[in-house]
Amino acid sequence: MSKDFIYKRKSSVSFLPKKLSSQMIKEIIDASMWAPSSRNGQPWKIIGIEHGTKNFNKIISALSGGNQIWAKNAGLILVFATTIIEDDFNPKIFLDIGFSGQNAMLKATELHLETHPIGGWDEELVKQAISIPDESKIAFLLVVGHKADSSETPKERTRNKMENHFSLEKWGENF
Ligand SMILES: Cc1cc2nc3c(=O)[nH]c(=O)nc-3n(C[C@H](O)[C@H](O)[C@H](O)COP(=O)(O)O)c2cc1C
Repeated sequence: MSKDFIYKRKSSVSFLPKKLSSQMIKEIIDASMWAPSSRNGQPWKIIGIEHGTKNFNKIISALSGGNQIWAKNAGLILVFATTIIEDDFNPKIFLDIGFSGQNAMLKATELHLETHPIGGWDEELVKQAISIPDESKIAFLLVVGHKADSSETPKERTRNKMENHFSLEKWGENF
């Protein structure tokens, strides 16, 4: 995978209300499945909800405020949840699912699709809408879709300076 996709991926708000092909969905999910996970536990359950379905509208209504405005045009929403957790929740499970989600975003970017992860939803409403069992936790939602032509000025994307986040040898040592 070219490193270009790392830099091209962005959280987009310009989606065309058009479904993805089955082949695209398959490629995105396959990429998600090849993420690393602790002890190869693969603790993800990914549920895809396509634009125009009753469940799609239910998921949109369950999103926190501002997200609904642009997410409603997406071709596909992927709900990343955990497999059924019988014991105490180990936060590393969410880490594994995050890697899986990143793979999904990079693959979608390679397929010239737009993505946007979402961290705000009503857990009960989403669970009810798509029959997620109580013993599973939702990690995040991923909006995926074809790019719409947009007259909006793209939001400036920034990152902090590397030295604020990376040290060699010990905490605080400049690189
Ligand atoms: C776990 C997670 C939750 C997020 N939740 C939201 C959200 O609810 N609404 C939103 O507009 N963006 C959300 N984002 C997108 C971030 O705001 C975005 O990734 C960040 O501003 C960096 O921009 P970029 O993705 O274009 O690089 C979320 C991102 C992650 C990883």
